[in-house]
Amino acid sequence: MNLYLNGEYLPVEQGRVSVEDRGFQFGDGVYEVIRAYGGKLFRLRQHLERLERSLAFVQIPLPEPVAKIDEVCRKLAAPLGDALVYLQVTRGAAPRLHAFPKGARPTFLAYARPYRPDPPGKTYALLSVRDDRWAHCDIKTICLLANVLAKEKAVRAGCDEALFVRENGTVTEGATTNAFLVRGGALVTHPADHRVLHGITRAVVLELARELSLPVLQQTFTLDEAFAADEFFLTGTGIHSGPVVSIDGRKIGSGSPGPVVRRLQAAFDDLVLRHA
Ligand code: PDD
Repeated sequence: MNLYLNGEYLPVEQGRVSVEDRGFQFGDGVYEVIRAYGGKLFRLRQHLERLERSLAFVQIPLPEPVAKIDEVCRKLAAPLGDALVYLQVTRGAAPRLHAFPKGARPTFLAYARPYRPDPPGKTYALLSVRDDRWAHCDIKTICLLANVLAKEKAVRAGCDEALFVRENGTVTEGATTNAFLVRGGALVTHPADHRVLHGITRAVVLELARELSLPVLQQTFTLDEAFAADEFFLTGTGIHSGPVVSIDGRKIGSGSPGPVVRRLQAAFDDLVLRHA
């Protein structure tokens, strides 16, 4: 029973949602992706806090008390080793009208799948794409078409990830990751404002940087500054901190993982071991 759907546990293949679900028709919902190591969820509280914040913004009521959602996630992850729990809440099923339906019950689902991360030593090539998303990228909405199109464009170009760049040349984040550059030993990353998702992994890396006495600047940087960086890396639930070796075919730094990202990766691995 790896799925929890509207109050019931069942196998994920048996989950059924109405064709009139507003998540399906409007992308009217929010989500979370949480990593488990040895069946134990990493930073679950922070993910649930972000879920509450996303729900409040889109004005969908919490489908269950947070304690119950917490219990569901733990139950789903426990039998698995390395796993991802996907959690989604939509405004529910109702005849198709844009305004909020009266009395619809949110659709709440969570399921766990085993997760095989990228092999250790994996490096990432990026393709820059125009950031044409809406102005609430801090909300983890299931409206991911811009991210999907960006990622596909990157993959078709033989890259691993898209790097969103605004019209003014500012780098925001990846299609499914936050972005950091390293310059003169300091980390630079976009401020946690409405232009980027406030990544849980981003926050963990900021904590680790503090522990390692690495200076951090939460400020915008341009694509040209990214090209000229000593190092560049991505953070996200699936990859922790992934070293970037090229952007648009241009080598970044030495073209292999640099000392700062390698220190952060080691500190992250250590943190995960302590968590287990
Ligand atoms: N993506 N930025 C965007 C646009 C994201 O979609 C994600 C996560 C992140 C990193 O956030 P976190 O560290 O909390 O995972 C940044 C998830 C994993 C996804 O959509 O699959």
